[in-house]
Amino acid sequence: MAVRDTASLLVGLLVLFHTWRAWAIVEVNMEDRVEVLRGDTAQITCMFTSDDGIGGMTIMWAYTTHLGERQNIYFQDSTMKLVDQGTPFTDRISVNGTGANGEVVLTINDVRLQDELDFFCSIKTLTDGSGEGRTKLKVFKAPDLPTIDAVQEVYSINEQSLSKIGVCEVKNGFPKPNITWYRDNTPLRSVQNVVNVEPSTTIESSGLYSVKSELSLKVRKEDKDAEFYCEVNYFVPGETRMTETSRINITVYYPSTAVNVWVESPKGLIKEGDTIELHCRGNGNTPSSEPTITHGGVETTLEANVLVLPNVTRLNSGDYRCSSMDLETFEEISGTTKVFVNYLDPAVVTPKDTVVHQGKELEATCNALSSLQTHVAWFKDGKEVSRGHILALEDATFNTTGMYVCVVTVPDIEGMETSGTLHVAVSGPPNIKNPDNTEIEETYGRSVNLSCLVRGFPVPSITWTTSDGKVLQTTSQKRTEEGVESVARIKVTSDITALCNASNEYGSDSVTFNIKATIYTTTQATTTTTTTTTTTSTTISSSTAGTANPPKKIKKESNGVIIAVLIICVLLLAVLGSVLYFLYKKGKICGRSGKQDLTKEKSNKDNIVVEMKSDNTEEAILLGVNGEKQPPSDQSGEYLDVQK
Ligand SMILES: *[C@@H]1O[C@H](CO)[C@@H](O)[C@H](O)[C@H]1NC(C)=O
Ligand SMILES: *[C@@H]1O[C@H](CO)[C@@H](O)[C@H](O)[C@H]1NC(C)=O
Ligand SMILES: *[C@@H]1O[C@H](CO)[C@@H](O)[C@H](O)[C@H]1NC(C)=O
Ligand SMILES: *[C@@H]1O[C@H](CO)[C@@H](O)[C@H](O)[C@H]1NC(C)=O
Repeated sequence: MAVRDTASLLVGLLVLFHTWRAWAIVEVNMEDRVEVLRGDTAQITCMFTSDDGIGGMTIMWAYTTHLGERQNIYFQDSTMKLVDQGTPFTDRISVNGTGANGEVVLTINDVRLQDELDFFCSIKTLTDGSGEGRTKLKVFKAPDLPTIDAVQEVYSINEQSLSKIGVCEVKNGFPKPNITWYRDNTPLRSVQNVVNVEPSTTIESSGLYSVKSELSLKVRKEDKDAEFYCEVNYFVPGETRMTETSRINITVYYPSTAVNVWVESPKGLIKEGDTIELHCRGNGNTPSSEPTITHGGVETTLEANVLVLPNVTRLNSGDYRCSSMDLETFEEISGTTKVFVNYLDPAVVTPKDTVVHQGKELEATCNALSSLQTHVAWFKDGKEVSRGHILALEDATFNTTGMYVCVVTVPDIEGMETSGTLHVAVSGPPNIKNPDNTEIEETYGRSVNLSCLVRGFPVPSITWTTSDGKVLQTTSQKRTEEGVESVARIKVTSDITALCNASNEYGSDSVTFNIKATIYTTTQATTTTTTTTTTTSTTISSSTAGTANPPKKIKKESNGVIIAVLIICVLLLAVLGSVLYFLYKKGKICGRSGKQDLTKEKSNKDNIVVEMKSDNTEEAILLGVNGEKQPPSDQSGEYLDVQK
């Protein structure tokens, strides 16, 4: 610059001396620099002032090569415009304006990178001498989108040297773009032994720049959550621009500093019989040996960090230590947890089965050993009768007899319970429960079941006797909670008085059943009569079993039977006669002698029928039977009551 200015000054002085015109020079003004994108059109303006007209003026455009040589590319005077042949600009430039208004513009089409040169505009006049201006042409090319490549690797914080994290690259920019690495939002600069950012630049054959940057780090544990990316800065005409790459993650291995072991299930209190799931995990992520759990000197290797203990008992209580070894550092670390298995032993009831005498009292206890507070309740027949582990029964009666269940529960753990039983028998003389019915009527020939429900302890022995001293067979006898139930089956052949006598060492009790035998018959309406066939049957109280009558009674009853058969026979005859009469036929079956009586005059069938129809027929029969006349009965069904 200084050289050129000096040169201009010298030229000016020369002109001054030659032309005698002291201050006549040409002033040329140009922009310092013109910026343009590659491929676009650049316009370089040259402004000048001169006292002369354009008549004798020449305009020349030139550039300097990188070696400093000057190369003309254009010439113009009042007579011609000439583009120099054989320069890189020959086909791409044009100049508009004649210079009459003091301005010409050089237009360069399809600007190339090589066009980044200094361009000169020289103006020469006949009288004023000459002047020159210069403009720097700057060419730009925005780079392609940057890329980032992660080194797909797992990093260990135990690594001593720097680890390569990734490479960013941006291609085909002009001038050279810059790459800056970021960890999260902080730019990374090289720091000895901590961070190393290594850029490298390539000039493509096109003249464009491609830049790479490689990041290496001493990886820290926090880097597992960090995001890394690159920012690219580049120039375009009039401004700088910025783009970013996508973000990458890195996987960082860090060894555990602690191991945690805990009961995953069940949540809350543990009881015997539960299945426990123990989990064990270190706080690191480095590959480590499968953890082991040690309890009571026994070591178990876990599968997938889980230990399952099915059906635990109180023996499973205690410390569980989980250890694992880092496979990089071979350091072993461990953690411990306490497990407590709660228990509830079977209930123990004392006394177990017991006998208490009537009116006396009884105390029983129920105990179940447990690691937790228990609750005890006593039940009889499903109803709660007492609370607390002592059951006190006062003034025992037969109602006291039975099974008592003591239920022990643990309020803190649902479903944890045990129970025990106590059988109480109350000793005392037998007591027969009043039967529903001691006065029984039963059809002659049928059987009745007599039942005797006796309470008492020791279990009373039961005997069945009839009033006449006969011992009856006991059909069935079964023990019940309260005592015994005895059943005797009796065939009713006559009126019977039966006695159930229960006795044990404390006394006896008895009850009497009176069975009345009845006869049930079905007869025709016109032929039924009632006959008293028996004598009396006596109601006998339980204390006065047995009378003087029975043998006599039985004898009369057998006579009655014979008479009854006779009556039936005669009645059948009468029925048959009636039938025959209606059919106008002769009969000759039963009772021929009777028929003769009925048919004194004729043995003719018709006559017989007629005679049978007479009113006397029945009378005769009845007289024959009872010796006295009775009115015919028209009841269709009637009990021939066996009266006293
Ligand atoms: C690139 O970095 C250099 C040195 O830090 C700086 O001079 C230049 O302006 C930067 N370029 C861009 C495009 O930011
Ligand atoms: C980084 O890792 C996190 C968690 O592992 C994940 O959610 C996220 O998508 C990852 N980001 C990238 C850019 O890989
Ligand atoms: C009497 O008991 C026997 C068996 O013990 C039974 O088969 C019968 O049905 C009972 N009779 C009556 C009337 O209850
Ligand atoms: C019942 O049996 C007991 C013992 O055998 C006897 O002492 C008692 O007199 C009997 N009672 C009756 C009513 O027969």
